[in-house]
Amino acid sequence: MFSTIFLTAQLLRLCLRFSVLCGLLALQNFHEGARIVMTELMEFAGNLARQAGKVLADKLTKQNRVYYKGSIDLVTEADKMSEELILAQISRRYPEHGILSEESAAKNEQAIIRWIIDPLDGTTNYAHGFPFFCVSIALEKEGTVVLGVIYDPTRDDLFTATCAGGAYLNGQKLKVSSESDLSHSLLATGFPYDIRVSADNNLDFFNAMAVRVQAIRRAGAAALDLAYLAASRFDGFWELKLKPWDTAAGCLMVTEAGGLISDLAGGKWNLDSPVLVASNGLIHDQMINVLHNKD
Ligand code: IPD
Ligand code: CA
Ligand code: CA
Repeated sequence: MFSTIFLTAQLLRLCLRFSVLCGLLALQNFHEGARIVMTELMEFAGNLARQAGKVLADKLTKQNRVYYKGSIDLVTEADKMSEELILAQISRRYPEHGILSEESAAKNEQAIIRWIIDPLDGTTNYAHGFPFFCVSIALEKEGTVVLGVIYDPTRDDLFTATCAGGAYLNGQKLKVSSESDLSHSLLATGFPYDIRVSADNNLDFFNAMAVRVQAIRRAGAAALDLAYLAASRFDGFWELKLKPWDTAAGCLMVTEAGGLISDLAGGKWNLDSPVLVASNGLIHDQMINVLHNKD
């Protein structure tokens, strides 16, 4: 009797160990599967950004028709060509995915997975032949940006980031700067296209910040500004009236490089928030204080 109970208990223990082992293996396989999927997606997105960047670089020296969306808001033929290339390839490879891209109507709006694209960030620069522009591609899953790619064809800089996987520039791991004093910091910002007609045009924030930092750059491509922050070339960035395609990939890059993203009050930022404060984390509160004129 005793030996039967003993044997049954042993058997149960073995079964339990076996199922725990199976569970662990399944989990490992699941993680391995997820890793492979992310690697594939990153390869696809990186290639796409490079191809679109080549279109931009090639077209830069050629006749490039410019159209006005507003009084100073442009769209060029190159914007359209870059976007066509990106959308065609995504639709061919991932027909079920959603797409939000600056110059086109949204596609598959109910999809769980969505690509967020700026086919040419820095259009005004581009139209003037000023070489600071990029392609920005992000992938969002159930509201979280899980992958971001920003490509600057002028310098052949490919910035990449995956959620919890770090941020990289041409394969080299990125880390935000270690500057902790706002007065020694180099910041970036930009101005909205309605600067002429809206009082909410960032000029007052710019004035307040300009006398408290080492310098501010208005380089003209928000996505690339954020990638530069991740790469420790800037210490902080803020801007009003941004769109998800300006910020999706760049914000992931900043957080994956150890930086911080918030709204103007230092609260939680999300993709639909037009106002963004980004930094290396160390000067964040100082930036928020200045932006609130509390300093
Ligand atoms: C613009 C740039 C610019 C920023 C504007 C954006 P676009 O994007 O990122 O730096 O100041 O708010 O709209 O029009 O060149 O794609
Ligand atoms: Ca943009
Ligand atoms: Ca654009």
